[in-house]
Amino acid sequence: MLTDVAKIAVLVSGGGTNLQALIDAEISGIIKSGKITLVISNKSGAYAIERAHRAGIDTLVIEKKACRDAEDFEEKMIDALDSAGIDIIVLAGFMSILSERFTSHYKDRIINVHPSLIPSFCGAGFYGLRVHEAALAYGVKVSGATVHFVNEIPDGGKIIMQKAVEVRDGDTPEVLQKRIMEEAEWKILPLSCEQVCRTVINERNKRNG
Ligand code: GAR
Repeated sequence: MLTDVAKIAVLVSGGGTNLQALIDAEISGIIKSGKITLVISNKSGAYAIERAHRAGIDTLVIEKKACRDAEDFEEKMIDALDSAGIDIIVLAGFMSILSERFTSHYKDRIINVHPSLIPSFCGAGFYGLRVHEAALAYGVKVSGATVHFVNEIPDGGKIIMQKAVEVRDGDTPEVLQKRIMEEAEWKILPLSCEQVCRTVINERNKRNG
């Protein structure tokens, strides 16, 4: 059977502005080869869940502390993703490192947005505001965002898109974070998501004749 949309799951932990950018991109038609069908949060109070509710998207909260261990946590996510028939997983501010067991289950089907130009300021310990603090402490004049495939190496998978953003004198981590979100993350995440959805659909249609 030929299919024309990929089912997208978005994994979140916080405010969910990148989730909102994906929702808006689906509405405006930038994302046309995929449909956001599930949002999973590993934090019960995450505002991202509210954004998903408002958009009429199914949500699920899976907290590590409610699981036996990290393996059980990932097992529960895999069960939920597989039973929803998810094709593509987008990590949009998801603050938990995934094991090889998880990443290899969805090889080339998980993408992540990271708020720097990889390979700078990335890897374990570099997340959220910490990334911008490190960039400012180093004194770089240009930073940006990267969307990449997710494998077992934190921020180590193949790069899909990058966008550079100017660092200005007097920037605080918060100001730089906002500029990078507005000028880079919210643009390249939806574009990358559409690109990966299109690839998945084309490959599936080729297989199914
Ligand atoms: C974003 O800046 C995202 O790039 C970053 O956390 C923020 C989440 O914001 N992710 C990482 O640092 C992952 N290593 P959001 O919840 O508003 O999308």
